[in-house]
Amino acid sequence: MLFELRNLSHTYLRGTPFAAEALRGLSLSIAAGQTTALVGPTKAGKSTIVDVLAGLIKPSPGTFFFEGADVGSSSFDVERIRTAVGIVFQSPEAQIFEETVGKDVSFGPRRRNVPLAESRRLVQESLEAVGLPYEDFRSRYTYALSGGQKRRVAIAGVLALQPQVIVFDEPTAGLDPRGRRELLDLIVTLKQRHNLTIIYISSSLDEVVHLADVIHVLDRGNLAFSGTPSEILTYAHELTALDIAMPEAASIALSLREIMPAMRTNVLTLDELEAEISKQTIIAPIFKNRGIKAP
Ligand SMILES: Nc1ncnc2c1ncn2[C@@H]1O[C@H](COP(=O)(O)OP(=O)(O)OP(=O)(O)O)[C@@H](O)[C@H]1O
Ligand SMILES: [Mg+2]
Repeated sequence: MLFELRNLSHTYLRGTPFAAEALRGLSLSIAAGQTTALVGPTKAGKSTIVDVLAGLIKPSPGTFFFEGADVGSSSFDVERIRTAVGIVFQSPEAQIFEETVGKDVSFGPRRRNVPLAESRRLVQESLEAVGLPYEDFRSRYTYALSGGQKRRVAIAGVLALQPQVIVFDEPTAGLDPRGRRELLDLIVTLKQRHNLTIIYISSSLDEVVHLADVIHVLDRGNLAFSGTPSEILTYAHELTALDIAMPEAASIALSLREIMPAMRTNVLTLDELEAEISKQTIIAPIFKNRGIKAP
């Protein structure tokens, strides 16, 4: 396993009147090479997990393994995890702090004392990889970029450090539908081209059912349930209770259950929904006519 979290707890501002229990005995594993989604309502502890995975906070009690090594042990070099894991934080704008795009993306390599020519190559490749042509963008002022472009610059800054894993914390929040689609396509392309492990944090299932291999649903600092997208969509009632909206197709399937009780809710696309509806409308009358309850 790439990451293994065992019984992790974390309380912010412990011992003060403002103490907030963010993780409460959370256990989960994340495999290399996959896209894993962490989904949960606000304050479920998603961004806290991001900080744990980045080696920025050390939770206690609990144990956290990276590639089988105990991150909490004194012999573990935290730089190892910081090199391997790149983070696109919840508000990517907040991780851009240089005046120009080129300077911002080269910040990481410069800090790591990467030789100038190599750093320039990394910046160029990373900007091209996120669809921002180097010559056009390197001298642009970062404050003048659009929201979508800022996110791309933040991603390029992470790519320039050549991580093994990239964690995206709610990367599409605030983008319009087209901006979302483009960013999701970019993530899929980057994963394939750079052979990355992706961890994708979201408060909704809409995007992740098409993207993730595995989804972990979180509730108040704990794991509620895990599964493939299709498995997760069978938990319709549990998801509603957590205030996690079903994606469009699954949500229509759920309402149709009132008239077609055997309707599956784990339909991922509108095409799958259509197939399920026609199955129900064909099967239901046959069973009804023979006095048999439809399966
Ligand atoms: N830096 C902090 N200081 C104090 N409390 C914090 C801090 N960060 C998070 N918390 C608290 O910890 C809990 C979990 O927060 P976290 O940000 O991990 O949740 P989240 O699932 O990412 O939520 P959101 O969907 O709103 O981003 C919340 O109660 C939050 O108020
Ligand atoms: Mg968050």
